[in-house]
Amino acid sequence: MANRALYLLLIIFLLLINNFCSANETSNINDDIEFDDEELEGSTEDQEENSYPIVDEKDVIILKHKNFSKTVKKNRYVMVLFYEPWSKEYKALLPEYASAATELKGEALLAKVDATEIYALTKKYELEEYPSVLLFIDGVPHKRYLGKMTKNAIVAWVKKKSGPGIYNVTTIEDAERILNADDKLVMGFLDSLVGPDCDTLAAASRQDDYVNFYQTSSPEVAKLFHFDPDVKRPALVMLKKEAEKQIHYNGKFTKLAIAKFVSVNKLPLVTGFSKENAQLIFESPVKRQIFLFATSSDSVKFIPEFEEAARFFKGKIIFIYVELDGEDVGVALSVFFGVSGRGLMVIAYTGIEDAKKYMFVGEVTLDNIKAFGKDFLEGKLPPFYKSDPVPEINDRDVKIVVGKNFDKIVLDESKDVLLEIHAPWCEHCRELEPAYNELAKQLRGINSIVIAKMDGSTNEHPRVKVDAFPTFLFFRAGNKNSEP
Ligand SMILES: *[C@@H]1O[C@H](CO)[C@@H](O)[C@H](O)[C@H]1NC(C)=O
Ligand SMILES: *[C@@H]1O[C@H](CO)[C@@H](O)[C@H](O)[C@H]1NC(C)=O
Ligand SMILES: *[C@@H]1O[C@H](CO)[C@@H](O)[C@H](O)[C@H]1NC(C)=O
Repeated sequence: MANRALYLLLIIFLLLINNFCSANETSNINDDIEFDDEELEGSTEDQEENSYPIVDEKDVIILKHKNFSKTVKKNRYVMVLFYEPWSKEYKALLPEYASAATELKGEALLAKVDATEIYALTKKYELEEYPSVLLFIDGVPHKRYLGKMTKNAIVAWVKKKSGPGIYNVTTIEDAERILNADDKLVMGFLDSLVGPDCDTLAAASRQDDYVNFYQTSSPEVAKLFHFDPDVKRPALVMLKKEAEKQIHYNGKFTKLAIAKFVSVNKLPLVTGFSKENAQLIFESPVKRQIFLFATSSDSVKFIPEFEEAARFFKGKIIFIYVELDGEDVGVALSVFFGVSGRGLMVIAYTGIEDAKKYMFVGEVTLDNIKAFGKDFLEGKLPPFYKSDPVPEINDRDVKIVVGKNFDKIVLDESKDVLLEIHAPWCEHCRELEPAYNELAKQLRGINSIVIAKMDGSTNEHPRVKVDAFPTFLFFRAGNKNSEP
């Protein structure tokens, strides 16, 4: 749960930063906020709005306050889309959702709820952003849907939850259809389509939300899935339509071992970072990550090196590529990591809970990346903290602290230091600013007290842990080693 909260925080951060970055750098914060509002209300989107096709929603059930509970209790599987009617994302996903509703008719009910009408419900289910899709099983919220918002992905996910978890493949036609349709899949080659091995495979399948599992006992079918017909059964392979097309499993045939194999291997060797993939990346059992920040033209050169390194560290480190000149969240992520504007960068990261970063220095070659990864795993790298440049002039009442002058100002043993950690999007911080300035002014004459502030979105220090903005920390003179 803590993990999810952190993940949400990260996404919100990325979205905010994205807006700041796409606005003109010279504009002030107020302009950015207005720009934000405009986008929310969709007033800049008017022309686009007309281009949304009319959606045939006949199979999407509309739920209101009075009939919500009854409906989710009466039906075994009910998927509920909570939305804000003006949202661009909602409008984009509605056609996909509606056709998934039609395809799943008889298996599951697909419903929608206007979140702006039923505030109590959204609070009850702890929904923090829209659109959000929740699956209810027998009236109980089971899981949030976090996959791709396409008809096929939604249908596959619901079928996985409601169906047997595994499908028989007995004919060449079925095999070819599946090989065409699925981007990744798991195929078991068994002696029989009933029995303990099938149960194991079905149980492993239920551990995973997105990858389809199949089984066959036919050597002809198995051949199409790249099995050696004489292989010892039960055998298992994962097929992907990307670099590293087939991965044969050679571990124990148990539910947990197979589920682990799938969760480690379902990510590409090098995963492109995007809003959609963020969940996949941060939910992986492998927490350590190495990020390549590069422009798309540089990436052509370096991704192959990264893929090789990824093979080497499989199951230990996830390799992620962040496109710096793309439209997705690349730039925002580079700000989050404190490496924006630096061009090609390689950063190791211990995951959002531990959140330690390490910077790679040197030429990006396979050998160097391997050595970096090894040192990373062995805890031999010096951590890296982000920092704005040290301000040249810092003579106001409220001193400006950045990562790089933190020790000098805040950890100065001769001074009591009150430090406010703020963020550019923090409304509260802005409201507080006059009072904080006034406080500093009043204390101006007292040499042993320093009133300071630090932008926590662009600066870090090992002594500072921030969960919310603003945060105030007091560092006592002569006692700088104790917790603030
Ligand atoms: C930002 O402002 C500068 C200076 O006013 C201008 O030259 C530039 O074109 C603007 N950029 C954007 C993206 O609006
Ligand atoms: C729930 O109530 C709304 C509003 O009265 C209605 O449009 C909708 O069809 C109802 N849904 C079900 C499943 O009864
Ligand atoms: C697969 O086929 C076997 C034998 O025909 C059958 O007993 C079994 O129920 C099928 N399994 C699934 C998941 O359809």
